Amino acid sequence: MKALINGRELADKMQDQIKTEVAELQKNGIRPGLVVLLVGENPASQTYVKNKDLAAAKIGIHSKIERLPESISEAELLALIQQYNQDSAFHGILVQLPLPKHIDEEKVLLAIDPKKDVDGFHPMNMGQLLIGEPTMIPCTPYGIMKMFEAYNIELAGKRAVVIGRSNIVGKPMAQLMMMKDATVTIAHSKTADLAAVAREADILVVAIGRGHFVTKEFVKPGAVVIDVGMNRDANGKLIGDVKFDEVAEIADYITPVPKGVGPMTITMLMYQTVAAAKKQK
Ligand code: GUN
Repeated sequence: MKALINGRELADKMQDQIKTEVAELQKNGIRPGLVVLLVGENPASQTYVKNKDLAAAKIGIHSKIERLPESISEAELLALIQQYNQDSAFHGILVQLPLPKHIDEEKVLLAIDPKKDVDGFHPMNMGQLLIGEPTMIPCTPYGIMKMFEAYNIELAGKRAVVIGRSNIVGKPMAQLMMMKDATVTIAHSKTADLAAVAREADILVVAIGRGHFVTKEFVKPGAVVIDVGMNRDANGKLIGDVKFDEVAEIADYITPVPKGVGPMTITMLMYQTVAAAKKQK
């Protein structure tokens, strides 16, 4: 291995820079604000939202968590989003996913003012990204691009494979790497001979959501391996989608879980909240 990609360290460094920028903005009377709408009691969502709140507090971003009951109606949630669309104290609105089954996620994401959509999930922002004119970028893939930059990992001409095709990670990740001139394959749970496809990758991004799914048989020696997984093992321990110990022996670069991609996702959320505040002033 050439290097462990230390997401925690990079996130701390970037958060310090964002904090300085927030202090500057405050001198001009601007306090970036982020509201997070959390519906129900999903334990993973609770943890994410708490970590977002802690990061915002550390950086000086005004942050509010709206904790809403599982029973909230779609109409009530949409009305609340409209209220925050109009509220100039909040430059960013984030609706934590997943939502309960009786609420249409597409309708909810469409209701957020694209200018306040700091997650980059609104179809308008997704479309902007797809045409190569990004405005708001989904935070996890954006954070991974910052990791490549920080570790001087070149993408042009490289073979990149993304395992996972979600709107949140897989699709925007593929697009961002393509914009940097990588040759990108999106693979997923139904891909025939997934290990062989993955083994072609110079850059392998894994977001399949299955603990320790990727073994060394999936990895070409010298590859860069990015693990987006956040799974709990039988003992409740946080584990990635990649079997770190064996893959680290053959990869050149690899991200750990925890302290890998996770802290960067939160950092990019803060970064885009500040960017949104600057644009809205
Ligand atoms: N659920 C899992 N990841 C995310 C994320 O990045 N944003 C939101 N809003 N919900 C999520």
